[in-house]
Amino acid sequence: MAHGKYRDQFYIPHVNGKESIYLCGNSLGLQPKKVKEYVNEELDDWAALGVEGHLHARHPWLPYHEFLTKSMADLVGAHQSEVVVMNSLTVNLHLLMASFYRPTKKRYKILIESDAFPSDRYAVASQAKWHGYDPKESIVQWRPKQGEHCLQIEDLESILKQQGEEIAMILLGGVNYYTGQYFNIEEITKLGQQYGIIVGWDLAHATGNVELKLHEWNVDFAAWCSYKYLNSGPGSLGAIFVHDRHGNDTTIPRLSGWWGHNKQTRFGMRDDFDPLPGAEGWQLSNPPILPLAAMRASLEIFDTAGIKNLRDISKRMMVDIYEIMVTKKLIKMITPSHPDERGCQISMLVERDGKQLFEHLSKNGVIADWREPNVIRIAVVPLYNTNDDVGRFLGVLDSFKD
Ligand SMILES: Cc1ncc(COP(=O)(O)O)c(C=O)c1O
Repeated sequence: MAHGKYRDQFYIPHVNGKESIYLCGNSLGLQPKKVKEYVNEELDDWAALGVEGHLHARHPWLPYHEFLTKSMADLVGAHQSEVVVMNSLTVNLHLLMASFYRPTKKRYKILIESDAFPSDRYAVASQAKWHGYDPKESIVQWRPKQGEHCLQIEDLESILKQQGEEIAMILLGGVNYYTGQYFNIEEITKLGQQYGIIVGWDLAHATGNVELKLHEWNVDFAAWCSYKYLNSGPGSLGAIFVHDRHGNDTTIPRLSGWWGHNKQTRFGMRDDFDPLPGAEGWQLSNPPILPLAAMRASLEIFDTAGIKNLRDISKRMMVDIYEIMVTKKLIKMITPSHPDERGCQISMLVERDGKQLFEHLSKNGVIADWREPNVIRIAVVPLYNTNDDVGRFLGVLDSFKD
């Protein structure tokens, strides 16, 4: 398959009147052209039908989220019962922690990666506090070795050897947002569970980027957003995974709302909460249809392309660009060199004149992103980036005079 085969299904932003070199899918994915049509369909049905659209829209709103479940489950390697689209990422992490972070006097700590995304750090610290624990003492950080950026499994093993019996939950980013390191989710999940720890994953930078097998890997829970590699629009909805082992266990406490209640009796309005089996039972509210429509347009492209094919293409594109970039003196690659330990993101540390380099890239049509203190991130997204994008980017990089 030629790289960028699906590119013409997306709008490519322009800079200086020319197609940009858009390498920012790790932050916000591009708009699929079908989005307007799908969103307009809902706007038209709302105009024509009003409340009747819940049942009689062309895609009825009442079960609308269900139209997305199969595509989403395929993307993360889950059973359909294990996945639901709802809310946004940090909200979902809190809802999942309400169920799966159940600290006791002896086992109350939470392990995260030291460079976890700030929202995750705030979320776990507030959960610890919520339960009466001091975050300073209860949040354990898996850190890189001195002078390194990526994390080593042996360091996690030694933390677990020392504190494994005190750790209640591990929450890690499947692909770290800063370095682009793709963790071995299966191995880490197994390792944590051997110590009796619940293992959850933030897959914001992994879903739609790498191939996942959450069910087979026995992951306890996961959450992700859809505005990065899933191209569903700024601030669009997130999704969760709850392994069937837990999803069918109605004794697990959860924060509840009517959308998680038995569909047959939901509108009876008088019953006690009767949770839907599986991930759907974690829903609270009826979801916003317009972003769901955008997501439907986007996920259809993944259905056609297949995440396995995309990952294969991505790996090939990444080998090419990485091998060239690693020779550049100006930058230091902090994304792992092994193809299995990274997705389609490359993070480069710029020790000198980083901001100037970033401005140079921007002025010359490259849309990338800057992360404090001195990292530029780019993503080569196989759905819409081409070898031509890569070549143009390398040309702009080479033309920087520091
Ligand atoms: C790894 C990671 N976690 C959490 C978040 C926060 O997402 P939200 O604002 O959708 O809650 C982001 C946002 O980019 C992220 O990259």
